[in-house]
Amino acid sequence: MKKLVLVGGSGSIGEQVIDIVRANPNEFELIGMAVGTRIDSLIKAANEFKIPNICVQREEDVVTVKNAVPNATVYFGNEGLNTLARIKCDLFVNALVGFVGMEPTINAIECGNDIALANKETLVVAGELVERKLNEHNVKLYPIDSEHSAIFQCLQGNKMDDVNSLIVTASGGSFRDKSREELKGVTKADALRHPNWSMGNKITIDSATMMNKGFEVIEAHYLFKLPYDKIRVILHRQSIIHSMVEYKDHSIIAQLGVSDMRIPIQYALTYPNRIDMKYDNQLDFMKYSNLTFEELSFERYPLLKLAYEVGEAKGILPCVMNAANEIAVGAFLSEKIGFLDVERIVIETVHHFENREYNSIDDLRNYDNKARNYALELIERC
Ligand SMILES: NC(=O)c1ccc[n+]([C@@H]2O[C@H](COP(=O)([O-])OP(=O)(O)OC[C@H]3O[C@@H](n4cnc5c(N)ncnc54)[C@H](OP(=O)(O)O)[C@@H]3O)[C@@H](O)[C@H]2O)c1
Repeated sequence: MKKLVLVGGSGSIGEQVIDIVRANPNEFELIGMAVGTRIDSLIKAANEFKIPNICVQREEDVVTVKNAVPNATVYFGNEGLNTLARIKCDLFVNALVGFVGMEPTINAIECGNDIALANKETLVVAGELVERKLNEHNVKLYPIDSEHSAIFQCLQGNKMDDVNSLIVTASGGSFRDKSREELKGVTKADALRHPNWSMGNKITIDSATMMNKGFEVIEAHYLFKLPYDKIRVILHRQSIIHSMVEYKDHSIIAQLGVSDMRIPIQYALTYPNRIDMKYDNQLDFMKYSNLTFEELSFERYPLLKLAYEVGEAKGILPCVMNAANEIAVGAFLSEKIGFLDVERIVIETVHHFENREYNSIDDLRNYDNKARNYALELIERC
């Protein structure tokens, strides 16, 4: 039995983690779970799986949850997330969205808990710190993101020294067939209609702006320790090849499958083993006689270009980019700004800050805060 602590359990990834736990009762035991404000899903899961440690975002929800799950210890807020991350377990599963996911990751590492990571913002914001902490504490980090899971699978049995490049595939998001001119009039509902994947709202917007792919490039850099010029992104509309590794003999290994996040999630939960997937989700090759590949243009997707630049620059700029993006995406989802404003706000915020190194989580919190405030000022002026 693998003991799991899951944070972000009410989200798109979190619910699929729970699906896998439910389908494999002899493999996993949930000993901790956190949600934000969707306390109903926490109460349901905590009673179903008899989870002893649970956490909510708001203090005012503690009494309700305590009454509904009397045998559990209930924590709240960011400190509650950190407490859960410090519970000794076999795997800390981080399915939080945004900057809030970074600190629990660091806490889990410091306690020697291995990690299954969906929260890509952790590596964007604090990649250098995470890399250092992982080495110090000899902790393993398994990717949940489908692209990174694919690369991780393609690397099995091979030597990193033999790798020429990583090829990260991108579906292109909701607006892949629209010109920049056509993006001027798009709505929130249009943006949330992803062609291939059903995901949380933020990542769906990040996919439409291609910020998500930029984040994934930075994530790949820290996970697989390759320079940015060896990480290439290509448009692959069908999302059947989840990513590839090219070796120095020009042999390319790809990982294929349907668009079902439970596949990479199970691999992160069970590595190096695999479990029987009890779902009807096999790839039918006959439906995909035409797999296509296209160049992704930096002119069309300026946030992808920015992510390469900011990733290369390191320091506080990736944190600033992430903070501005969270604020801008939030404002777009609240219909306060247009789709193209998201890009503009992120780019202008990054350009406003001078880069410097960071030394601690406090440093990152400080710059996250400053960047959020600056992005909010820009939104006020829209
Ligand atoms: N969805 C996918 O298919 C997918 C694929 C690859 C990578 N990822 C990455 O996985 C992460 C999660 O994505 P998602 O799509 O699952 O997001 P999501 O559906 O929005 O879920 C986010 C989770 O985080 C919780 N949360 C947010 N803010 C919180 C806070 N301040 N305190 C405590 N909990 C908080 C939410 O709780 P409440 O909802 O209860 O408030 C929810 O459980 C992201 O980093 C994303 O980029 C997602």
